[in-house]
Amino acid sequence: MQYHKPVHIALIGLGRMGKIHLRHLLNAIPGASVAAVSDTLYIEDNFRNEFGNFLFTNHPTDAIARPEVDAVVICTPTSSHAALVEEAIEAGKHVFCEKPLDLSLEVTKKLLRKAEEAGLKLMVGFNRRFDPDFLQARQSTATGRIGNLQIIKITNRDPAIPPIEFIKTSGGMFMDFSIHDIDMARYIMNKKVVEVYAKGLVFMDKAVEEAGDIDTALITLTFEDGTYAVIDNSRKAVYGYDQRLEVFGDGGMIQVENNLYHRNIVFDSSGIHQALPLNSFTERYIQSYLKEMELFVDAVGNNTGLPVSHEDIIMATIIAYAARQSMKEGSPVSIR
Ligand SMILES: NC(=O)c1ccc[n+]([C@@H]2O[C@H](COP(=O)([O-])OP(=O)(O)OC[C@H]3O[C@@H](n4cnc5c(N)ncnc54)[C@H](O)[C@@H]3O)[C@@H](O)[C@H]2O)c1
Repeated sequence: MQYHKPVHIALIGLGRMGKIHLRHLLNAIPGASVAAVSDTLYIEDNFRNEFGNFLFTNHPTDAIARPEVDAVVICTPTSSHAALVEEAIEAGKHVFCEKPLDLSLEVTKKLLRKAEEAGLKLMVGFNRRFDPDFLQARQSTATGRIGNLQIIKITNRDPAIPPIEFIKTSGGMFMDFSIHDIDMARYIMNKKVVEVYAKGLVFMDKAVEEAGDIDTALITLTFEDGTYAVIDNSRKAVYGYDQRLEVFGDGGMIQVENNLYHRNIVFDSSGIHQALPLNSFTERYIQSYLKEMELFVDAVGNNTGLPVSHEDIIMATIIAYAARQSMKEGSPVSIR
């Protein structure tokens, strides 16, 4: 992809996601140039040892406000997204923000409106769309390879319950975790969701309940033509990070299986043995993180459309909210 000039990026928040995006921006996206990095807690010397001699500051404003910065990549905890996104937009910068944009639907809409009015791009990291296998599934369904789509089944299970401190501020399982699957169901089926019916429980760890969350969930979405999505979520699968998908249509079926550490299948007298699934999102979805950032940089550099629309962001938030409401009320919730 050719640009008129490199897209100068300020990256804010250097935790798990920030490091992934920074490494991609530095080493694998030729159209991007990292202008500044900020993390309120990171120690500058440690940053320099790990990443080299880039401008680093503990004050996000000093990075965002730099005149050469075209776009800000926000990878801080969810509770800080809104203020940083707002600041970046007010400074006239395009924004990539990790999911979810905010826990409040009203704030989400307000930020999107603000970006639109300023003529700036605002993309949220629904990275799974850009996983090569899921992208291929989307291309196959979109070209009618398996006919009219009836059911999508998505399995998303973490290998281990995250720290309780994270759970407390995450926004809850539907908003923090299932939101990826909700987006994936809409993306692959490419239909409007009209109803959400969700159930959830604490099955594994009472501390999750004390933190006000659940660790197991089942979500049924009904699409406008009466067809379904079934999403099953767990915070802990003892065999690793379980990420599978199946789409069923009147012309066939597509399955996406787990990515394993290797593809050997060993047969012996005790059974047939395979490697475990890749154990974390950082391994499983690394290609998708690169692709989403490439597409964001392309969209800014060439002033083209974003691959995640404002409607995608709003609908995923509305549906995640509805799932929580449905679980609480024990009945389906209509989406208008
Ligand atoms: N797309 C995905 O697959 C995916 C996966 C994990 C996390 N996330 C999202 O990414 C975001 C970050 O999650 P993480 O796991 O990388 O978090 P993390 O806790 O590993 O890192 C967050 C970093 O931000 C810094 N920070 C906190 N407040 C800040 C502020 N106001 N300004 C600058 N720096 C600040 C912290 O010091 C820390 O280094 C969350 O919104 C989360 O929901 C997305």
